[in-house]
Amino acid sequence: MEPSFLENIEEGLRAAIESRDLAPAIEEAARYALLGGGKRLRPILTLQSCVAAGGSPADAIPAAVALECIHAFSLVHDDLPALDDDDLRRGRATVHRAFSESVAILVGDSLQCIAAEVALESPRNTNLIAKEVLEATRLMIDGQSYDTGGVFRADVTDEETRLRLIHRLKTGALIRAACRCGALAAEAEEEVTARLDRFGTAVGLMFQIVDDVLDETQTTEHLGKTGGKDQASGKRTFPGIVGLEASRAEITRLAGAARNELNSIGSEADPLRELVEFLALRTN
Ligand code: IPE
Ligand code: IPE
Ligand code: MG
Ligand code: MG
Ligand code: MG
Repeated sequence: MEPSFLENIEEGLRAAIESRDLAPAIEEAARYALLGGGKRLRPILTLQSCVAAGGSPADAIPAAVALECIHAFSLVHDDLPALDDDDLRRGRATVHRAFSESVAILVGDSLQCIAAEVALESPRNTNLIAKEVLEATRLMIDGQSYDTGGVFRADVTDEETRLRLIHRLKTGALIRAACRCGALAAEAEEEVTARLDRFGTAVGLMFQIVDDVLDETQTTEHLGKTGGKDQASGKRTFPGIVGLEASRAEITRLAGAARNELNSIGSEADPLRELVEFLALRTN
């Protein structure tokens, strides 16, 4: 396998669609949503976490593909008129714009099932990996509920507490699960799994704070999705609640916290270390 694993990921994603006899409309939209670019952060994290935990990356491919299917589903539904109502994703029309709302809803549902089926093809810790993927999906959906106006529990009143809860769930849950699944595929010891869990938790929150900052500071052309959208739609964001400067300081703090979790791991974790730098400094 190549060190960056990108080709293996693309191949796994293609196979997830092509090995199934999907209804033509769903297949076309699934190709569009799943094979149409994207950074592939979650599957890369799964494969590199597996390597950092001493495992063989081939054992983590099903989990990696499953999590990218869930991510693609989350984006298709996130863009729907009933949620964020976005027309642009990865530099082109969102799925409901390119096809229709019904197709966007159904392809999201289908990708969720495909993800569960693929996760169950994991050769090691099969049930634990499938449970991890499904649990993280449910938490992501809870996060989307809070993010789009859902009601908070009565004791969660502070705005920053609400914001951190949203980010931990809507984005952090899948990123944390990506790292945990890598450790599970490697059959890592509890201590290593716990480290990668905390690493993923820090990276997950950092990732969404960066997303919030970029929404406010970058152009639509550069992002490939509509800029300035969060403020326009009254979203809770880090820059909106604590300001840009404090958001940037929190990104730096979380990058350090993530790196620290890797201290007891040798050069096998270098790709994860580089990934933290890349994600903290990315501009789109
Ligand atoms: C966008 O995720 C949605 C968030 C969770 C912030 P990514 O920035 O990973 O999207 P792609 O897959 O690279 O397009
Ligand atoms: C991402 O939140 C969370 C999920 C898609 C689950 P955003 O709504 O901020 O993502 P973008 O900015 O549309 O990519
Ligand atoms: Mg959203
Ligand atoms: Mg959105
Ligand atoms: Mg955003």
